[in-house]
Amino acid sequence: MAAPNSKPSVLIFGGVNTCSRALACFLVPAEGDALVSHVRIVDKYSVAPPTTYFGAEFTKILSKPEIEYKQANLTVPSIVASMFEPPAGQNPYDYVFDLTGEVRPDRTEMIQINTTCKVSRSIGLEAAKQKVKAYVRMQLPFYESSSKSNHDEKDDPKPEGTIGTWWHETLRMLASIEDLNLVIVRVGLVYGPYTEYGYITTALTVASVYGHMKKPMKSLHSPGKHATNTVHVQDVAGAFWACANWMASLGRKEADILAGEQILFHNDKSKVSEVEGMPPHDKKLIAPLFNLVDDSNSTYLSVGQTATSMFGTTFEFFSIGERTLFKFVDDAVEEINEHHVGGWVEMNQASNPPITNTPLSAYMEKWDLDKHTVAFNNTKIKEIVGYKLQQPEFNQDALKEIVDKWKAEHTWPNL
Ligand SMILES: *[C@@H]1O[C@H](CO)[C@@H](O)[C@H](O)[C@H]1NC(C)=O
Ligand SMILES: *[C@@H]1O[C@H](CO)[C@@H](O)[C@H](O)[C@H]1NC(C)=O
Repeated sequence: MAAPNSKPSVLIFGGVNTCSRALACFLVPAEGDALVSHVRIVDKYSVAPPTTYFGAEFTKILSKPEIEYKQANLTVPSIVASMFEPPAGQNPYDYVFDLTGEVRPDRTEMIQINTTCKVSRSIGLEAAKQKVKAYVRMQLPFYESSSKSNHDEKDDPKPEGTIGTWWHETLRMLASIEDLNLVIVRVGLVYGPYTEYGYITTALTVASVYGHMKKPMKSLHSPGKHATNTVHVQDVAGAFWACANWMASLGRKEADILAGEQILFHNDKSKVSEVEGMPPHDKKLIAPLFNLVDDSNSTYLSVGQTATSMFGTTFEFFSIGERTLFKFVDDAVEEINEHHVGGWVEMNQASNPPITNTPLSAYMEKWDLDKHTVAFNNTKIKEIVGYKLQQPEFNQDALKEIVDKWKAEHTWPNL
């Protein structure tokens, strides 16, 4: 018989490569009391042997009694459904955190449809059937923010590229599941301990290479008002938890009244008949939506300056004349990476002890070198959910903590 337990039980799907490990560590800390009775994390990776980077903290909590990890192929709906069967003695799952989705911008439309939309939709359908009390969907910032404003949730920034189109379409599919207790959290550029994913981590790694070479880090883009709003991974975890509790106390209908926003169509109309579960272009879809960024109003310039000054160098911009030499970013990618990657390898070899295995890389994909603007307003989540940021400021202390933790587990060079 299931023991009565007032703490919720939680299912986390996907995102082991992004924010799920930090979320699990927040719910079941290595030291201290767990916030939940049980967490099952489901993703495509194997734990033993590890087929991806886990980091020291997550590795530690995997042995806790509250934590269960399952490797599964979530593109198969029957496998998704089976993941909702709680272990013996556990109550049915209360909350679902959906961090699934393909994060590589170079993936094709077909891959995005299969591994972002379809996976999330089958989890959403099953969660609605099981009547979970809250379903929090992580939306990564694959949008083209206007550089002039910071978008509140009523604004409708354009999804960026194939990845943005299908991540956004996923929100429409989920919003159309009426009985799903859905909350969408649209996050800024994530950074934090053991978070090897993302733009900020790449910037940090590359800045360290320039510091090592004692050269300024130079940017292809003019500084302008180029917002790159940030959010600490601990706040992603904290806000997801706050949103789940908020939803559980209300239910979807009430939550839509308090925080519902229309999720507008940004796709090709011809796709509606091709992709299963895709709502018609003119269907009015409403779901609770919250932005989540810190209070720093981070910009390209401020992130670059904070990261480079930590490593004793500066962040500079190529002059217009120099920039025209790189007529296309494509031409510059290989040349730029030669310097970065060579420098990073050198640092790892020179480290004491030498680093032989690190998930971190100074390689910048074309996507990383292109200009992206992320400008979100965070007022709504503070006012409606009452969420209080734990790391409101993007600063050197936060970056130092990240680097120190990597040094301690020997994934960052100790020079
Ligand atoms: C997952 O399942 C799909 C559908 O059956 C299959 O095409 C794919 O190869 C599977 N992926 C893995 C990693 O096994
Ligand atoms: C996507 O899924 C469809 C239908 O299951 C399958 O036919 C197709 O091969 C898959 N494509 C990719 C790239 O995964």
